[in-house]
Amino acid sequence: MNNSLRVCWRSPGKIILFGEHFVVKGRPALAIAVNLYAKTIIEPAGDGYTIYSKNLGITSDLSRGEVIEAFKPFKKILEVIIEEYGAPKPFMALIDSEIPVSAGMGSSASTAVSFTAAVLDYMGIEPRREVVNRIAFKGEEVTHGKPSGIDNTLAVYGGFIRYESGRIRRLSLDLPENTDLLAVDTGVPRNTGVLVRKVLERYQRYPEIFSHVYDAASMIVDEAVKAFQESDPDRIGELMDINHGLLVSIGVSIFEIEKARYIMAENGAYGSKLTGAGGGGLVIGLMPSDNLRKTYTTLNRIFNQKTYVLDIDHAGLSRCREAS
Ligand code: MEV
Repeated sequence: MNNSLRVCWRSPGKIILFGEHFVVKGRPALAIAVNLYAKTIIEPAGDGYTIYSKNLGITSDLSRGEVIEAFKPFKKILEVIIEEYGAPKPFMALIDSEIPVSAGMGSSASTAVSFTAAVLDYMGIEPRREVVNRIAFKGEEVTHGKPSGIDNTLAVYGGFIRYESGRIRRLSLDLPENTDLLAVDTGVPRNTGVLVRKVLERYQRYPEIFSHVYDAASMIVDEAVKAFQESDPDRIGELMDINHGLLVSIGVSIFEIEKARYIMAENGAYGSKLTGAGGGGLVIGLMPSDNLRKTYTTLNRIFNQKTYVLDIDHAGLSRCREAS
């Protein structure tokens, strides 16, 4: 619980290592929270519920009529909180995120989670993880239509998880020694909701074929857990490539994604795949640490300085230091 007037909460972005899209139909996925964060700072101000997105440079009042698309999830979250806990005192919320947008790193979920926790804390209510997760998911439904819940779950709990139909198993796994996880943002923006719908429509057209593709995706997840337990980068990489092949078959890869994968392969990647919804966004590759610098430089040059070396965030949702 918070006794000061100003509160600040932050939560991590995420990367799906295996199982995106298949997870929407209840299949398992393996994912990690990563060391890029969204934070929300709330303090008393004015007579409404003002929200300012530092990234968009836009201010709006959530209590007055229509808001822009990007603020609709926050409006929904606030409505749910008011319904369950009553109205907070007027506030100003600052949303500030370092997570690339529309890239498959769960930026919307992470901002939804930090906002939910900050509003609850501002009201003097302890932001318990289960509660924040449930309420932030309502915001994610506004953003994505039919999300699996994996993004908000990772933004809340952090770590390395196996996720299946809302059930989370926390795994104490890490990347194999002398490897690094590289991610490159293709810079091609896309809409997760639209891609999820497109995949589900293709599923409707080929239900029998797709059921086998989805079965294969489930097996990959279990095989990958074993490969991580055995710290076997060759197998993890091979499974990433196979998983990517399935994502191609359901229609979510594009030229820029394949281009990034080929650059990674040329630089000795154990394997690579798109992560998140595809159609643009991020590509991840498991690299031998020796090749990291060269691959990083090459990708950064070709993809406009948008390459990241990712670490696992183990904390999940947490209070930001600057507000305490
Ligand atoms: C988006 O990060 C991952 C998808 O599987 C959608 C979801 O799980 O909600 C494509």
